[in-house]
Amino acid sequence: MTNQFDGRIALDVRHNRGIWSEFSTRFERPEAEQRWGRSEVRWGLFGVPEGELHALGQIAGADVVELACGMGHLCAQLGRLGARPVGVDLSAEQLDGAAELQGHFGESFPLVEASAEEVPLRSSSFDVVVSEYGAAPWCRPGRWLAEAARLLRPCGRLVFLTNSVLAGLCVPDEGGHAGTELLRPQPVLRDVEWPGGGIEHHPGHGDWVRELRRAGFVVEALHELYAPEGAVTPENYEVVTAGWARNWPAEDLWVAQLS
Ligand SMILES: C[S@@+](CC[C@H](N)C(=O)[O-])C[C@H]1O[C@@H](n2cnc3c(N)ncnc32)[C@H](O)[C@@H]1O
Repeated sequence: MTNQFDGRIALDVRHNRGIWSEFSTRFERPEAEQRWGRSEVRWGLFGVPEGELHALGQIAGADVVELACGMGHLCAQLGRLGARPVGVDLSAEQLDGAAELQGHFGESFPLVEASAEEVPLRSSSFDVVVSEYGAAPWCRPGRWLAEAARLLRPCGRLVFLTNSVLAGLCVPDEGGHAGTELLRPQPVLRDVEWPGGGIEHHPGHGDWVRELRRAGFVVEALHELYAPEGAVTPENYEVVTAGWARNWPAEDLWVAQLS
């Protein structure tokens, strides 16, 4: 594992790192192991198959960097599809989990401890940047999108998953599932500190398009993810119920190309 931290990271990034280090020791390992064992890439709380969305494009033979890789299940799955993945995460504890799971599954790829806002990897060295509930909610949009653009080769692909704006508007402050009322003004979500939680960023769709274009991307798709028929409410994440997500999109999967 490469540790290139130099103490210059922003205060909100430090705050989020503390939160994630604690989560990883309390909750994450068993679920990460289960996800590592999955043979196919699935997106989001309700596991929408990549085979339905085709968000990732050509993966075999691609150099892929995952920003905020956590315990690395997506890197592992992409490696099995023939990619050369590199996982970047802010939390040493998350990366320790990833390293342990690499040993457990007998698979290996580089892990780099860094913020997605400042990645110590060479410019123009990846075909795909992917981020699953990682950089988008936890990093400042302008900062991490500029890094994603720097890391990609010309015409490289960016694929990222985050909570839907609508879910962000409807989840109660005190925790629990989203309801059917709008609980806050939308601009509040751009930089929001949840009580007892981290500092998150949930720009509206128009803001995302503007930020993506500013960083040099062209939007190819925005897949709004609903719960499929028969889906059950996830036990570990109190964000939306399956019933809610059958009616409204729970998550946004963005696909963009560097112009
Ligand atoms: C919800 S987890 C997602 C991890 C993985 N993609 C998954 O779906 O299991 C969020 C991850 O973002 C990481 N993270 C938070 N802020 C970050 C930042 N500024 N740079 C890189 N990683 C960050 C946390 O350490 C944590 O591993």
